[in-house]
Parts: sequence; structure tokens; C-alpha cells
Amino acid sequence: MASNKRLLMLPGDGIGPEVMREVRRVIEWMDKRRAVSFDLSEDLVGGSAIDAHGTPLTDETMTTAMEADAVLLGAVGGPKWDNLPFDQKPERGLLRLRKEMDLYANLRPAMCFDALVDASSLKPELVSGLDIMIVRELTAGVYFGEPRGIETLPNGQRKGINTQTYTTSEIRRVCRVAYELAQKRDNRVCSVEKANVMESGVLWREEAQWVHDQEFAGVELGHMYADNCAMQLVRAPKQFDVIVTDNLFGDMLSDCAAMLTGSLGMLPSASLGDTDATGRRRALFEPVHGSAPDIAGQDLANPIAMLLSFAMALRYSFDLAEDADLIETAVQNVLAGGLRTADIMQPGKAKVSTNVMGEALVGELNKLAA
Ligand code: IPM
Ligand code: MG
Repeated sequence: MASNKRLLMLPGDGIGPEVMREVRRVIEWMDKRRAVSFDLSEDLVGGSAIDAHGTPLTDETMTTAMEADAVLLGAVGGPKWDNLPFDQKPERGLLRLRKEMDLYANLRPAMCFDALVDASSLKPELVSGLDIMIVRELTAGVYFGEPRGIETLPNGQRKGINTQTYTTSEIRRVCRVAYELAQKRDNRVCSVEKANVMESGVLWREEAQWVHDQEFAGVELGHMYADNCAMQLVRAPKQFDVIVTDNLFGDMLSDCAAMLTGSLGMLPSASLGDTDATGRRRALFEPVHGSAPDIAGQDLANPIAMLLSFAMALRYSFDLAEDADLIETAVQNVLAGGLRTADIMQPGKAKVSTNVMGEALVGELNKLAA
């Protein structure tokens, strides 16, 4: 079957290649069983690209990513590259992709799967049925603000500098994404900043309110300081529907929200840009977890976050909601059947490897599609 679905796979470092391998299995399955085929290419990013090419992302890879309909990324980084100068670190590859593809809206769902309610460090009643969407601004703020650097002062002291900046349009466009998502969910948005101490936070609050009043007055909007939000997330997480926040607060709050669900190994993310004139929307999908160097190469990693990231790609980039549903159901069924990778292991369940979990998922897909 002819395909115009260009999918670039960037497995990256650590457990990235292992979890990506299981996604490839599902892609092959889709090709055979669902007649959905992709133009697949694979390339290097992060430490693996540094080792091969001396840079965390080559210009060629950047070009391929710009032309792809979707990019699937594993993870970047590891101790081997920790001592490199800042602008040569593996993470710069990921940040370059986000920035040059202009992927300003990072969607990080935190959902608690029924079978994993007991894996959460919170009481089951606090997390059962949890379904939060964190929308993190991804291309501005302190991650990219200038000036930045480390300088030496005349008195010999050194000074580290980063700058938090946000413009009207940077805030408005990510808030629009949050309000649109809320309309398809429980219609509630909580905008998060530190307007009590930061001017950029004051602007954030005003612009979030402006977009709401002008364009989304039907959505319920609240504002919260970021420190309070962190506290509320572990006190009563189900009070939230959609949270919209800046790059740095979003980084921290999404890790916090992820852990409510029992495991970082379960959570996918989508990073989206604007839709262009041809209807194409640049997009990158990656698990929220990192490269987990401590367990890399041991067939221990949980491939589910990577697979659910691929399901998000089917939903947001390829308009294949039915196939995305199928994958999500397969994940739920395999968990209900008692299989667990080490990170989500519970008493009485069967501990399996990355590879066996991947096989079980394909087996379940076979059953569902029969
Ligand atoms: C994330 C990660 C990245 C970030 C790192 C790897 C640069 O923590 O995606 O949350 O800080 O954005
Ligand atoms: Mg992070």
C-alpha cells in the first residue's frame, strides 16, 4: 500500500533503542495486519550522534526531521557525556529539535491505569481514575532566554545567568492549545505561574486570561502559583483537568504528575507546532521518562511509554484514532493480565523483560484485531 506517512525514528541513548525496538514491532504488525504503512527512517540523536558525528544532532538529521510527518524519539543523555561542555551535551540535540521545529505545545497526559492504582505512592482513592493533561510551553522561557552563561566577576566570583522571557504570542498560542484540549475533556484549565514574584508570571496570567475572555469564555479557567500547584498535585490531584504552564514549571510539574500514576515508564508525550498551509503539523512524540542509564541494555525497561507515544502520533499526526485506541486497549489488557516490567512490579504479578512485554503487546493486538 502506498504511504505518505513519513515517520522518523530517533531512538537516542540508554534505554531509548530498547523501547523503540518494541514500537518497531508494533509498526510491522500494523503494516501486516492493519494495512497501515509508514515511510520509516531511523537516525541518531544525543550521545549516540556525538559518538558517531561529534554533534548531538547533525544538520542532515535536522532536515529529515523538518520534512517528516512525525518524529518518534526515545531518550537522550547518559553519564558518558555528562562532562561535555554545555552546548555539546546530548540534551542540546533534543532542544534543537524542539526549537527549530517550533514545537511550542508539549502535551503530557498523566493517567492512572486501573491495574496500576496500587503502584502509586499515593493512596488508591486519590489516584484511581486520574486523568490530567499538562500542557507545557516548550520553546521559550528560561530554557532559551538570553542572556545566559557563566561569567567571572572582577572579584573572582563566578556568576551563572539564565533569563526567563515570555512574549504575548508565546503565551497566547500555548494557552489556545490548552483551551482547545479542555473543550474535548472536562472543560477546565488551570494556568500556573509565579505571578507573585516574577514579571513573566504576571504577563502569563494576564495573557492566559485574555485569550480565555476573548476566545474561550466557555472554558472554566483558574490560576495557581506553581509551588501551590506542586502541593495540590500530591494532595488532591483529581481536582485538575488541563494544566497550562511555562517551560520550567512544566518540566517539574509533569514529572511530579507522572509519578502519581505509579511509573514514569507509562507516560507518553506529544510536542506540537502550528498547522501549516498544507495541513501538516510538525510533531515529535517521546516518552516522559529519560534514558535510564542504570538499567540500559539489560532488557529491563518498560516499553509502554514509548508505545503510547506512538499511539499519540497515530492520533495527532496521522488521524488514525481507531488504531491508537487499539494500542491503548492492548496496553490495558496486558496489564490487567498481570504482566509487569520491573518499574511497575507488584506482589503476585509476573515480572517480564522489555522484550517479553513487547511480545505480549503484539499478542494482545492480534487478539483484539482478530
Ligand atoms: C524533559 C527532560 C528534558 C527537559 C531534558 C532531557 C532536556 O527533562 O523532556 O522533561 O528538561 O525538557
Ligand atoms: Mg523533565
